[in-house]
Amino acid sequence: MRTKVAIVGGGPAGMLLSHLLWREGIDNVVVELRSREYVEARIRAGVIEQGTSDLLRSLGLGERMDREGFVHEGVTISNSRVPFRVDFAALVDRVVMVYGQTEIQKDLYDSATSAGWPIVFEAEDVALHDLTDAVPSITYTVHGEPATLEADFVAGCDGFHGVSRHAIPAAKRREYERLYPFGWMGVLSETPPVSHELIYARHPRGFALCSMRNPMLSRYYVQCTADTDPESWSDEQFWQELRSRIPEAAAESLVTGPSIEKSVTPLRSYVAEPMQWGNLFLAGDAAHIVPPTGAKGLNLAFSDVYYLSEALTERYSSGSTTALEGYGARALRRVWKAVRFSWWMTTMLHTFPDAGEFEHRMQETELDYLAGSSAAQTAMAENYTGLPF
Ligand code: FAD
Ligand code: DHB
Repeated sequence: MRTKVAIVGGGPAGMLLSHLLWREGIDNVVVELRSREYVEARIRAGVIEQGTSDLLRSLGLGERMDREGFVHEGVTISNSRVPFRVDFAALVDRVVMVYGQTEIQKDLYDSATSAGWPIVFEAEDVALHDLTDAVPSITYTVHGEPATLEADFVAGCDGFHGVSRHAIPAAKRREYERLYPFGWMGVLSETPPVSHELIYARHPRGFALCSMRNPMLSRYYVQCTADTDPESWSDEQFWQELRSRIPEAAAESLVTGPSIEKSVTPLRSYVAEPMQWGNLFLAGDAAHIVPPTGAKGLNLAFSDVYYLSEALTERYSSGSTTALEGYGARALRRVWKAVRFSWWMTTMLHTFPDAGEFEHRMQETELDYLAGSSAAQTAMAENYTGLPF
């Protein structure tokens, strides 16, 4: 099989790239390890930046999002149960949208399926070959049948645990990493959200986040140790911990119920450079990870593939490879700013096991400054609603 762009990974990055390329008439094939059902069932991101929702709308992918998603004009930050609000709309005239990654993933698969764009699901043993030659290729097996896909370019959109990044020789790759000494336990429950906006809470017992998917589906997170087995916590323990960390009024009105999903996510900041090698281009979690505190991962995956689609479009329309050669540097400038913002939010809001009195005072002061300064809130609002791309 031969195509122009072989896309490894059919998560949000791979599927949006495929969509952007087809719109420019650039044929491509997506090769995904899992089944469609498996990918659609993964519970992940919930918040999308204004630039991301604008992009989805401009591609005709915004109809269900605008019907079923929720515009959030601000967010509540709580310090030791005392809340204050950051008003994005008033400060930077921008908003975010709460619309689950699972829904975006469904919308992307639906539009690809109805247009007849090729996606290979359940592709095992994916391997990348000849990336510095004119015709790179990928090989894989589907239900035991081997297959080869030749292309002009390979897009590595296979997430943090994928194979693409490792195709760049170790001697040419530089990795920057910070592992945080905690994780998040996330619970999804069929209960009304405790607040109409998100609550990010710092508390001596640890961080907590109240989020939502719809009026009868809530998403909550509490900080836990990174090695916590989610099954070792009963639902009641989770609710108790959440209640103790959020503002009193919220704790009193919290409606609890059985968890329909419970999982633990480790927190890390990670960037691999470069994002390109020969004819391989990395995008999204394949190249970088941010802790979820800033709600940036999915949005970064989308800005990466937006830049990559522009560069590939230039290559196929004019023959120029200038934008392709500059892809990594352009994407990384935005990536590092999101890494900084996510690290800042994480550092300000979590309990660090090895923190001393000085670190506690710095956290208190950071939050006191944010609560009282419209300049500080504007900087937060600008980053949370998303830097331009
Ligand atoms: P992925 O979603 O990981 O997709 C990669 C795809 O490649 C997968 O479908 C995988 O099955 C496939 N794959 C893997 N290996 C192979 C292989 N060898 N061959 C072929 N295919 C392969 N981000 C936000 O912006 N806002 C949020 O609010 C937010 N909250 C989050 C909360 C949690 C609990 C978590 C875990 C993440 C959150 N994120 C958030 C991050 C966001 O989910 C990710 O950044 C996003 O999924 C990245 O998309 P991606 O397509 O790059 O990678
Ligand atoms: C959600 C996840 C996040 O990491 C975040 O910062 C905000 C919301 C969510 O899953 O709803």
